[in-house]
Amino acid sequence: MPTAALNIPERPTNGDNSLSRTVSNSRTDPVNSLSTSPQLSFHSPQASYAGPPKVSAKQLRPFQSQDVKILLLENVNLVGQEILKKQGYQVEALKSSLPEDQLIEKIQDVNVIGIRSKTQLSANVLRHAKNLIVIGCFCIGTNQVDLQYAAENGIAVFNSPFSNSRSVAELMIAEIITLARQMADRSMEMHHGVWNKVSNGCWEVRGKTLGIVGYGHVGAQLSVLAEAMGMRVIYYDVINLMGLGTAQQVPNLQALLSGADFVTLHVPEIEETKNMMGEKELSQMRNGAYLLNASRGSVVDIPALIAAMKSGKIAGAALDVYPNEPGKNGEHFNSQLNAWGEDLRSLKNLILTPHIGGSTEEAQSAIGVEVADALVNYVNFGTTTGAVNMPEVTLRSLTLDEPNHVRVIYIHKNVPGVLRRVNEILGDHNVDKQMTDSRGEVAYLMADISNVNVSEIKDLYQSLEDLGSRIRTRVLY
Ligand SMILES: NC(=O)c1ccc[n+]([C@@H]2O[C@H](COP(=O)([O-])OP(=O)(O)OC[C@H]3O[C@@H](n4cnc5c(N)ncnc54)[C@H](O)[C@@H]3O)[C@@H](O)[C@H]2O)c1
Repeated sequence: MPTAALNIPERPTNGDNSLSRTVSNSRTDPVNSLSTSPQLSFHSPQASYAGPPKVSAKQLRPFQSQDVKILLLENVNLVGQEILKKQGYQVEALKSSLPEDQLIEKIQDVNVIGIRSKTQLSANVLRHAKNLIVIGCFCIGTNQVDLQYAAENGIAVFNSPFSNSRSVAELMIAEIITLARQMADRSMEMHHGVWNKVSNGCWEVRGKTLGIVGYGHVGAQLSVLAEAMGMRVIYYDVINLMGLGTAQQVPNLQALLSGADFVTLHVPEIEETKNMMGEKELSQMRNGAYLLNASRGSVVDIPALIAAMKSGKIAGAALDVYPNEPGKNGEHFNSQLNAWGEDLRSLKNLILTPHIGGSTEEAQSAIGVEVADALVNYVNFGTTTGAVNMPEVTLRSLTLDEPNHVRVIYIHKNVPGVLRRVNEILGDHNVDKQMTDSRGEVAYLMADISNVNVSEIKDLYQSLEDLGSRIRTRVLY
């Protein structure tokens, strides 16, 4: 059922941009008046395709800042909270997640929700979120959100997949040296009162070859750090990528495995990478080489690794990820979880860590900044760059010398004929720029139109709302 545009304030005629601006935001509470003034301190201004704008970019506002209600759960990082508060939004931050009934109660009222991995935003919960326009997952994964339901109801979802790449790379460096010096075993022995001063089988890493499988965000960071320690770096990736420093790409996995002293895995979890390090691949590694996996547990065939370590083929390994991982902290890493658990734990020179590759204060802070910025850009500008459930759409900023321009955002069902009808409506105005894209059954259109009067906005908004294809309409100015 289309909803009506409400409360559109009179536009001031003195050209003072610090006064009212308006947005319509459909579903149930479509239009809210707002106040904007260009903020020099705005955290992350929208980039322009045409390079830096020659005049100041105009800050768009969807609501009165103080009317944007944000609920942050699960102790979202303070840096992220600050970015949102600086926008003038009403931010309520709770330390924990909420049980479903309380979540349903709270979510009815908010425009934005920020969560981490524990809060379940199922279709049942989102059904009650009548004013929600965007979800920020202040974490890597988005499994806890019903992404499709969100998209179909015009709710964008953002996360932060790469903020912890450096943390993983640094852990790899620490582990490479730890393995080369058998340091974890020596430390364990000392904890048990055993003095065992040995140099046999202990190596410097300088001059050794590191083989990186998957030269993406983590792999590339690691490449730079490893070269700085005097290692030679080779890498294998399904894409042709230019190596950083003097790192060299090799043509296939076998060439990497036979040419490296240390092999680290940084590939995504996909069908092709399942058990990509099995018995055959382990046998292709150099005798006495080391294997490190901080990607995903399914990438290494663990029983094959256990056999290769017992035979002495592999001199050491570091695992941060496992096929089955406990859902909470405690004594859960046992044989019930993974049948080979005991065999694995009994091995020498094996570092086991509980999926902490990306778990640092810096990564949390970077996640806070990235997700909060994405939320601000979405709320204020409609930009979907980085959204996980919507097509990625952005336009260069409106400028201060474009006072009568408005930005129309129209999220709609991806069905034939919509664009023609939308453009018939927009065609009464001058469409300065427009971009549209679709993802599955949902399409996202953004258009900047000029010379629009406040009285026309209401009609414009209502005409778009009346189209059968509409999921959500927003008008920012
Ligand atoms: N342990 C942790 O805490 C932690 C933290 C962050 C990321 N990760 C994991 O690390 C892995 C890498 O993360 P990223 O951010 O660098 O990902 P990324 O997407 O930036 O890079 C992955 C790279 O792997 C390449 N690739 C894909 N399939 C391949 C194949 N079959 N063979 C060789 N290369 C292949 C891709 O082309 C890409 O360059 C992911 O599995 C991610 O989930 C783990």
